Amino acid sequence: MNLAVIGAGSMGAQIAQQAALGGVDVFLHDKSAAQLEKARSSNRGHIMRRVEKGKLAADEAEKALSGVHESTDLTEAVSRADFVIEAVFEDLELKRSIFAELDRAALPEAVLASNSSTMGISKIADVTSRPERCVNMHFFYPVLVMDLVEVVRGPQTSDETVERAMSAAREIGRTPVLINKEIDGFIVNRILHAATQEAYRLLDAGVAGFEDIDTAVEKGLNWPMGPFRLGDFSGLDVTYNARLHMYRSTGDERFRPSPQLEAKVKAGKLGRKTGEGWYRYAK
Ligand SMILES: NC(=O)c1ccc[n+]([C@@H]2O[C@H](COP(=O)([O-])OP(=O)(O)OC[C@H]3O[C@@H](n4cnc5c(N)ncnc54)[C@H](O)[C@@H]3O)[C@@H](O)[C@H]2O)c1
Repeated sequence: MNLAVIGAGSMGAQIAQQAALGGVDVFLHDKSAAQLEKARSSNRGHIMRRVEKGKLAADEAEKALSGVHESTDLTEAVSRADFVIEAVFEDLELKRSIFAELDRAALPEAVLASNSSTMGISKIADVTSRPERCVNMHFFYPVLVMDLVEVVRGPQTSDETVERAMSAAREIGRTPVLINKEIDGFIVNRILHAATQEAYRLLDAGVAGFEDIDTAVEKGLNWPMGPFRLGDFSGLDVTYNARLHMYRSTGDERFRPSPQLEAKVKAGKLGRKTGEGWYRYAK
């Protein structure tokens, strides 16, 4: 596979690096040279830590690092690609304009995949002349650690494209699951939201404190982090906005954000990044 990754932020940088670790030839594109530089140095840090821990041989590390080619020119980045994964900002108009550009610049047989967390491919693919070769591939942060890709087919995605996306995920060294229908939240966020919503319901009803709910989930379900600790880790604004999005798009009362969560966000207590959320963190 010749892969191109568009957008070198938190996700794109690591998708490219994970692919190169698996021996895939990959071009990473961002319109910002500074962002490409940041991606390279961050990837080097991650890979070198593996070498220090004895988990990766030094020559393999260098091969994986030099396997990610970079370009600020989108046309150059996709010129040889038979598979493209887009990971730019979560902005529908931006994604649509990138897909229109990719449709013009990429090989006609290339698959165009989007890593969007919330936008089904049908919202984007209609700007291309190849909607049957467009698909969602939802990776998880941090991609170098998290072994899952949700492959989501849109109404026009062909069987062949689904197969190619599933095998691309495997070539990148990640386990794919197939979602046959576009649905908000795909599988993982759907289940996470349901569990988190129940945790907030228990909190709001005064059934238990957040620390005890976290402990119950961590010890009883073996989750590495309970819902409140996880919220602090991801950012309570992210959790709040995701719930608001689900609530507005489904109208389902189950997704209405908790008043206590809303209060935290309004008070600027967003979790680790602000030093306080549900828990307090040393600065
Ligand atoms: N962060 C997560 O946990 C996560 C998890 C799964 C999926 N996603 C999805 O992945 C996508 C990227 O998220 P992220 O967290 O990596 O974002 P990010 O903000 O870290 O990176 C986005 C990158 O896109 C680049 N970009 C913006 N406009 C561009 C353009 N016109 N051409 C080229 N590059 C451009 C930016 O320079 C930036 O480097 C989003 O769709 C998001 O929903 C994010």
